[in-house]
Amino acid sequence: MSLILRPMTRADLPEVAALEAEVFGEEAWTPQMLSDELDQQPASRYYLVAVEGGRIAGYAGLLGAGWQGDVLTLAVATGHWGRGIGSALLEALLAEARRRGCTEVFLEVRTDNHRAQRLYRRHDFTEVGIRRGYYQPSGADALVMRRALPPGAEAAGPAGAGAAGPGGDTGEGS
Ligand SMILES: CC(C)(COP(=O)(O)OP(=O)(O)OC[C@H]1O[C@@H](n2cnc3c(N)ncnc32)[C@H](O)[C@@H]1OP(=O)(O)O)[C@@H](O)C(=O)NCCC(=O)NCCS
Repeated sequence: MSLILRPMTRADLPEVAALEAEVFGEEAWTPQMLSDELDQQPASRYYLVAVEGGRIAGYAGLLGAGWQGDVLTLAVATGHWGRGIGSALLEALLAEARRRGCTEVFLEVRTDNHRAQRLYRRHDFTEVGIRRGYYQPSGADALVMRRALPPGAEAAGPAGAGAAGPGGDTGEGS
């Protein structure tokens, strides 16, 4: 089955909110928070969904305005883990950050989320600090990670071009 990455729309919100609750539990964003995020797209936000077999298997969001980008969220449905969907979404966000002129991208990840940290390290993010009590209501700490996006490494072509771009077919899972 092929995987499609495409921009998230309002019609996706019920499915995304259900996945958000499944993956993040008590720390999940509410449907209203997700909706507020989409209000800011495309000006400062870039949200993608990964669709497989007509269902949303994952999603991710970038804050990209100015030279500094931020990976706001990244989630894959548990039954789809380990097949490269998280990597494809992250690469697509990084490509968009480059297109928007960001020269560095930050993210926060729970200090006990070793799986996600492995994914980020594989994509050249390095630790730059700790935010104590960042996650609520658990009070869990966040590791802050950063990846430089050197000028001159811009992705070729407009948004949507490339193997992992929105609307593109990564070939994963086929
Ligand atoms: C973290 C998360 C997004 C990773 O998503 P994913 O789709 O499983 O990520 P990937 O498949 O790209 O990579 C994960 C593993 O699969 C392996 N993998 C990648 N592509 C693969 C493929 N085509 N075939 C088999 N394995 C593959 C990778 O080697 C990696 O293994 P490793 O972590 O042991 O090195 C997902 O686990 C998740 O949603 N977790 C809960 C939410 C969360 O923690 N989000 C991050 C918040 S900061």
